[in-house]
Amino acid sequence: MQNIYQPNQETYLKAKALFESDEVLAFPTETIYGLGANALSDTAAEKIFALKGRPNDNPLIVHVGNKHQISEYAEIENGIQQVIIDKLMPGPITLLLKKRDIISSVVCNVPYVGIRIPANQIAQELLTTVGLPIAAPSANISGKASPTTAAMVYDNLWERIPMIIDGGESEAGIESSVVQVIFKDEKYTILILRPGFVTKEDLEACFEGEIEVHYSQKNPELSPGMRYKHYSIGGEVRIFSSLEEIRLEKSKKIWVLATQEFLLDHQEFFAQQAGNFLIQERWTYQNLATCAHNLFEKYHYFDMEGVDILYVEQLPEQGIGYSIMNRVKRSAEQHS
Ligand code: TXA
Ligand code: MG
Repeated sequence: MQNIYQPNQETYLKAKALFESDEVLAFPTETIYGLGANALSDTAAEKIFALKGRPNDNPLIVHVGNKHQISEYAEIENGIQQVIIDKLMPGPITLLLKKRDIISSVVCNVPYVGIRIPANQIAQELLTTVGLPIAAPSANISGKASPTTAAMVYDNLWERIPMIIDGGESEAGIESSVVQVIFKDEKYTILILRPGFVTKEDLEACFEGEIEVHYSQKNPELSPGMRYKHYSIGGEVRIFSSLEEIRLEKSKKIWVLATQEFLLDHQEFFAQQAGNFLIQERWTYQNLATCAHNLFEKYHYFDMEGVDILYVEQLPEQGIGYSIMNRVKRSAEQHS
């Protein structure tokens, strides 16, 4: 693992030189690890798409170190966008803003570009040292779970990139919320194109309920990424709410991802089944953020272990639970 670097000023300076020569490298953010390149360079951006095997009509998010830089790369058109920037950035949110021409059209081939300021200290120090806008999708091969550790990035990309900055486990564990402010029928509305770590409730609270916030229905026009296969573990993912839905199948490797509340309720059953399948995690309803934190790490593990069927418990779809279930459902969709 020659390409794993510790986060320090020397690493950031090396990263700066790499970005300036159109190289691609992975770095931690508070959501997941990103695969970054200079957002002003077509050549650099093309490398990201090639490395990930990503369809080129799926735009990349542009990361900057502070709020002052936003208007160099995009236009803030209204007060609603400004409030989102003031109240939620830096943080796990991406806001679509009118793109300035300086941003590479390979990075983003649509009029609105996603701008994000990560709250993670390493990402901030890196972006500040580098001084360039950095285009970065999740640092996985397209279709796989987003990486939440440097080791997961390595398992996806090996030594095909010159640098992976090791920032330990990602705090949030799921990606940023991608949002757009729409003006329609004489009023502003916020659309959540991709639910993420910032919740619908968080956005509503910024405006004390004065602005409506909606989840966009699967609309590939608005968020091209919705069209593609995602979070695949190789095997099949099934969502369950009751014990009856978990079916044993001989000669298949079956694993269960469930809350400690569910496991406790069905303690006897699971004790009897020991050896038939594996109970992998003890999530809790009390703190859904901890479920988000290790979801993708578990997915990656299941993928590496060659699981045939993964049963994932249905969590309450409120707040962060909505965003978690969005990922789980998309991983389950691929087989239905
Ligand atoms: O937390 C995150 O957002 C991470 C870290 C690295 O910042 N990045 C990330 O990027 O998850 P990616 O490319 O894996 O997912 C970005 C999503 C995709 O679904 C893409 O289609 C959508 O955001 N998106 C990006 N730019 C867009 C744009 N200009 N218009 C509409 N959707 C956009
Ligand atoms: Mg991604």
